[in-house]
Amino acid sequence: MIKISRKAIYILMLSGCMAAGNRTFAQQDNTNKKVEALLARMTLDEKIGQLNQYNGDWEATGPVTKDVGNKIEEIKQGRVGAVLNIMGTTHTRTFQEAAMQSRLKIPLLFGQDVIHGYHISFPIPLAEASSWDMGAIERAERIAATEASASGINWTFAPMVDIARDPRWGRVMEGAGEDPYLGSLIAAARVKGFQGTGLGSTDAVMACAKHFAAYGAAIGGRDYNSVDMSPRTLWEIYLPPFKAALDAGVSTFMNSFNDLNGTPATGNSYLQRDILKGKWGFKGFVVSDWGSIGEMINHGYAKDNYQAAQEAIKAGSDMDMESRSYINNLAKLVADKKVPVSLIDDAVRRILTKKFELGLFDDPYRFINPEREKTSLNRPENVDDARDMARKSIVLLKNENQLLPLSRSLKTIALIGPLAKAEKELKGFWSLDVDKGQGIVSLMEGMQNQAGQTKFLYAKGCSITDTSRDGFADAIAAAKKADVVVMAMGEAPDMTGEAKSKSNIHLPGIQEELIKEIKATGKPVVVLLMAGRPMIFNWTADHVPAILYTWWLGSQGGNAMADVLYGDYNPSGKLPITFPRSEGQIPIYYNHYNTGRPARNDNDLFYTSAYIDLPNSPQYAFGYGLSYTTFDYKSMEIGKFNPSAKSDKIIPVSFMIQNTGKYAGEEVVQLYLSDMVSQPLRPIKELKDFRKILLQPGQIKRIAFNIKPDELSFYNDKLERIIQPGTFEVMIGSASNDIRLQKTFELTE
Ligand code: NOJ
Repeated sequence: MIKISRKAIYILMLSGCMAAGNRTFAQQDNTNKKVEALLARMTLDEKIGQLNQYNGDWEATGPVTKDVGNKIEEIKQGRVGAVLNIMGTTHTRTFQEAAMQSRLKIPLLFGQDVIHGYHISFPIPLAEASSWDMGAIERAERIAATEASASGINWTFAPMVDIARDPRWGRVMEGAGEDPYLGSLIAAARVKGFQGTGLGSTDAVMACAKHFAAYGAAIGGRDYNSVDMSPRTLWEIYLPPFKAALDAGVSTFMNSFNDLNGTPATGNSYLQRDILKGKWGFKGFVVSDWGSIGEMINHGYAKDNYQAAQEAIKAGSDMDMESRSYINNLAKLVADKKVPVSLIDDAVRRILTKKFELGLFDDPYRFINPEREKTSLNRPENVDDARDMARKSIVLLKNENQLLPLSRSLKTIALIGPLAKAEKELKGFWSLDVDKGQGIVSLMEGMQNQAGQTKFLYAKGCSITDTSRDGFADAIAAAKKADVVVMAMGEAPDMTGEAKSKSNIHLPGIQEELIKEIKATGKPVVVLLMAGRPMIFNWTADHVPAILYTWWLGSQGGNAMADVLYGDYNPSGKLPITFPRSEGQIPIYYNHYNTGRPARNDNDLFYTSAYIDLPNSPQYAFGYGLSYTTFDYKSMEIGKFNPSAKSDKIIPVSFMIQNTGKYAGEEVVQLYLSDMVSQPLRPIKELKDFRKILLQPGQIKRIAFNIKPDELSFYNDKLERIIQPGTFEVMIGSASNDIRLQKTFELTE
């Protein structure tokens, strides 16, 4: 066993520091002095006020506490440090003016769930993750931040970087899927997008990496449920995106509702003090999730709010979102000598530092500028970016006989399904209701915008959760008159998101029966599936010739879908999460261990780790997604390198890829690695790198990857990062289950 070299670790740490370090030491020193000076003037009550966050009661994103008295009055008394769900310059000004009447005039933070766009709605995060395009994702968050910051907001509760291997969990829609490598890159891109050139610029909002930690592994996929996880899985799979967000300079973290191995995350010192603020050296602050401090009573971890506040502050939760545990109990805890003031000072320091960095002490109204608000929202060039992000998010699952793209000279298209005319649904969950659906382009509108002379016949067929077949006849009649049928099917947008777990993730209602009836007309059928999670639709997958998974694409969804349907954009999305055939396969993910009795194929039933009633393989694998063109992979080489496991080696890998079809197209070439023999075990393969490349028809390119020492290393049982000598397999392919080239190399002692 070889421990990873100091130099390599140093390089990794250094790149983290530089990424995070928008501020010079002199600036930081100056801020620290201002924070200390202010802290010295604060009473204990004023300090505790800074740790208190209230919902603004305009839009609630959690269970609102009733009978809470006058919040504006409390702000004037210095009893509130931040509010959430207050949007727009008018509202934020009212609250900030109240803060300016407090004794020390400490400005408020305005937090908001800006999850996928602010006024302009972008695709849901899981959809954006399907683009595997870090530049586009960063740009999407930049636009969201530009809009939100012009509306008085200076803090977003995003990105959600929870790894999710369970599509029953409604919050899969908010994350980047199942893979720690892809998830880490996306976490960093989102943080950079939100924070732009750094706090202090008026178009930067503080980002918040959430939910720390392991929230995505809720047992049974049931939201808020317990998490029981080995330390290695925590470190290998669930923590890396948080570390990547931190290295990208994220300002805040939010803890999570779940308990981890018996300790609620909110009261978890190991997570918040030992890892986050200790080992990782996080200098920002941690906000609790909504009410999660008080919820430690329900967990059975604290007997009352007094004890809950004590556990939370000890464990490193700096700000209390909406449970009122801190504001009502911390002063007494200090008086009773249960909590030292130093713990409170530490939390206040962290929060004040961010307020200084945001420039709020120079001008508390710097984000509250009605003129800027008017000119920053819904800018046409940003709408174009939303359309581009949306088309990059679409995944082509099937395209038999090149049914797609559609010709513009088709005479008649039947547009069928409950989502064919959907508008505000396209925004999906976690959309702010700011524009009430204005400016949203439905599929029908998008196709009509682009279709030329084609006549459209619309029939709803059924609604999303229908049990009635009354609409089938009209839909069948429309299909019979058409050259091609395009069907828009899926979930309702509020079937994913917080508290939206499902035990049955099949395409809801009788939608698949409608698809069967339409297919029976003999007409060519294209199915578009809109959802916030992987759904199960096995009959459709087996029988329908063309399928696009469109997730929820945001306000430009209709235009983006039409771009893809007509071939103005060649689909390039790849699934960031595995699609099961049955709920019984869940949790299902590509990077699993081999077991002592691996099933090599779907018919290997006896004495293998398999089901007798279901193949092991998923319906669609992680990394999967087709294009209108085809790509040929060849001539893989592993270049010369120093084989000693002790060296800071770079292992050069290259191969050729050619566009062998007739359309220009982008391919996401994926590099997976397998450590063939290792103790403890390693997954059968792990994504370690990828490249998204555009090739013209016939064009051929050599693609080079460099495998770095850290990519060979892993955590042993003592949670040390090690590299073991032995054989490694490098696999290059178009999906985790579509490996086109592979070669091995050896590491020696
Ligand atoms: C609870 C959610 O878990 C969290 O993600 C969100 O940021 C807060 N509510 C605030 O809305």
